Amino acid sequence: MKTLPKDFLTTQDFTPQQLLDIIHLGIRMKHNKKRYANSLKGKKLAMIFEKSSTRTRVSFEAGIYELGGIGFFLSSRDIQLGRGEPIADTARVLSRYVDGIMIRTFGHERVEELAKYATIPVINGLSDWLHPCQAMADFQTILEKKGYIRGIRFCYIGDGNNMAHALGLLASQLGAHFSIASPKNYEIDPRIKDMMTHNAQTSGSELLFTNNPKEAIQNADVVYTDVWTSMGQEEESQKRLKDFQGFQINEELVKYAKKDYLFMHCLPAHRGEEVTDSVIEGPNSVVWDEAENRLHIQKAIMYTLMRA
Ligand code: CP
Ligand code: NVA
Repeated sequence: MKTLPKDFLTTQDFTPQQLLDIIHLGIRMKHNKKRYANSLKGKKLAMIFEKSSTRTRVSFEAGIYELGGIGFFLSSRDIQLGRGEPIADTARVLSRYVDGIMIRTFGHERVEELAKYATIPVINGLSDWLHPCQAMADFQTILEKKGYIRGIRFCYIGDGNNMAHALGLLASQLGAHFSIASPKNYEIDPRIKDMMTHNAQTSGSELLFTNNPKEAIQNADVVYTDVWTSMGQEEESQKRLKDFQGFQINEELVKYAKKDYLFMHCLPAHRGEEVTDSVIEGPNSVVWDEAENRLHIQKAIMYTLMRA
């Protein structure tokens, strides 16, 4: 059995079984809050934010509190990191005070640098490259709603961004079929594609990469999208609005999915851009359960990494 990694930077560092164990723990924690109420008693989590957040901030802070610990919200506007203190120094100092660090930042190498120099677990709360906690919450939601993951037909339409990367990796690790349609020049990183292809050889996932949303959504059990302009890309938003025409999830497009498809979105959403109000507010949408599961899965991740 592979030993658990120190950090949660990407699901790629974990075996499919380790990931499924965390997902099942998330479900148990959701239904039996009391049992785990003191399981991280006295533990401290530093939460570094170099970008905005609603869900990640509140779900981590609520989560560590529910496990008997405490979280410290550290905006880069307030800590010395924002004034240029090296990430390696921040890592070594925080390691002397707290038991875990969650970071939301820009370049993924910043998350890796933090983890390299920290002697305590580091959790990736979103980088430009990956958002693995969200992907874990999403697959917890799929398991709860559909009863299985292996063989599910997961379709992502939109930007080949951090969400597409994290979902594509996790789907291909867990044996879900994954189809993705992005506009030309907005496809996923080829390195992620290679990792997915490699994962699929073991897991049996079928992968489809296309620029045609109708092709990707055929028979989908899950239809997922994310914003067209991610944090840090604000200057490109007008161009992106044009380039993503035809990639909106609307009533017309979802006709090609299975009747009982789930609509998912990590949120925040831009109604009228990547999704219509009628779809996100419609009967197939599970976006609020998905957001709730951030709390449960991150408790499971913290419990798994920070108990020692
Ligand atoms: N989905 C997500 O990570 O939301 P926040 O940006 O609000 O944390
Ligand atoms: N792709 C989005 C996800 C937000 C949770 C972003 O990075 O802004």
